[in-house]
Amino acid sequence: MPFYHRLGDIPHKRHTQFRKADGGLYAEQVVSTEGFSDDYSLVYHHYPPTLVKSIGEPYSVAPEAAIEHNMQHRSFQGFAVKPEKDYLKSRKTVMFNNDVAIILAAPQESMTTYFFKNSGADEMIFVHEGEGVLKTMYGLLDFKPGDHLIVPRAVIYQLHFKTSANRLLIMESYSPIRFPKRYMSNNGQLLEHSPFYERDIRVPRTLETHDEEGDFLVYIKRDHMMFPYHYATHPFDLVGWDGYHYPYALSIHDFEPITGRVHQPPTVHQTFEGRNYVTCAFVPRLYDYHPEAIPAPYHHSNVDSDEVLYYVDGEFMSRKHVERGQLTLHPTGLPHGPHPGAVEKSIGKKETNELAVMIDTFKPLKITKAALNIEDQDYYLSWLND
Ligand SMILES: [Fe+2]
Repeated sequence: MPFYHRLGDIPHKRHTQFRKADGGLYAEQVVSTEGFSDDYSLVYHHYPPTLVKSIGEPYSVAPEAAIEHNMQHRSFQGFAVKPEKDYLKSRKTVMFNNDVAIILAAPQESMTTYFFKNSGADEMIFVHEGEGVLKTMYGLLDFKPGDHLIVPRAVIYQLHFKTSANRLLIMESYSPIRFPKRYMSNNGQLLEHSPFYERDIRVPRTLETHDEEGDFLVYIKRDHMMFPYHYATHPFDLVGWDGYHYPYALSIHDFEPITGRVHQPPTVHQTFEGRNYVTCAFVPRLYDYHPEAIPAPYHHSNVDSDEVLYYVDGEFMSRKHVERGQLTLHPTGLPHGPHPGAVEKSIGKKETNELAVMIDTFKPLKITKAALNIEDQDYYLSWLND
């Protein structure tokens, strides 16, 4: 979680009477994580958050593994995923394990008739294409291409797009998404060597309070099941809140790259981490400046991680043909490295304009049918020829 933030009206002391103009009490809620042992927020509703009217029939949204045991380098064309009007239907899981699910989505329409709450996972929504507003009870958060939107579990949200051509890379994390521990001071401040700082973190600044009664449909996801819940009051009915638990945004364009005389390891590109995975951002940067440096990466064995790279923009120094939205998977147990010619070609180059997001999982990923539908089948042979 980023840092302490407050918005709207809150009482002077927690857990004390906080009354509306008509004398009635606002409903206080403690939104706590890891039981009551980690970060939390104190929020103040117009109505109690418990007014359930009815529950629809739950249905499964569990991803199915087409390849349970993958031992092959693979590549997928993410932009071949067909756009769909509805946000929830547009989410296509392409890879998953017990720690994360990697999802591609091209939703065309805003969420106006329902809300969504992922109760089983924090979400990182990387906005590749599209602009709009993430609406939650904590307020409004504008987004644009390059943003990582971090939505902690159990935050009810709506995505409102200004655009119809939207491309999202979504990671469900079944553990809290955090900044890397080594970036943080004992008190939770981002340290000087971190490639981003609190100023780069965008938090909700505008509260939109809906003092409304009616019928409000919230799809709640947990255990790969979707539970349609109908509430009697609008989920975004807060007059104020404070704490550490809320959604926020970090733009990949605000990530300051760390460079060196020789090739820097992937760890300098890290953005977030969770249980059994890390994420990284590869951004435009100057190349290594040792007179004999080789800017292209060395071959490497991911002895303990499946490496998923999502190509956002620019040209990739290590790969031959890369499309925007392409995903590569280099699994645990196999070495991989630059494509033929890429090493020589990189020598003497001064800078790169590559932009990509990486998700490295420490346990193998399973691959879905949705992924196989967009696979470049000969990718594993692509190191053979110039
Ligand atoms: Fe790699």
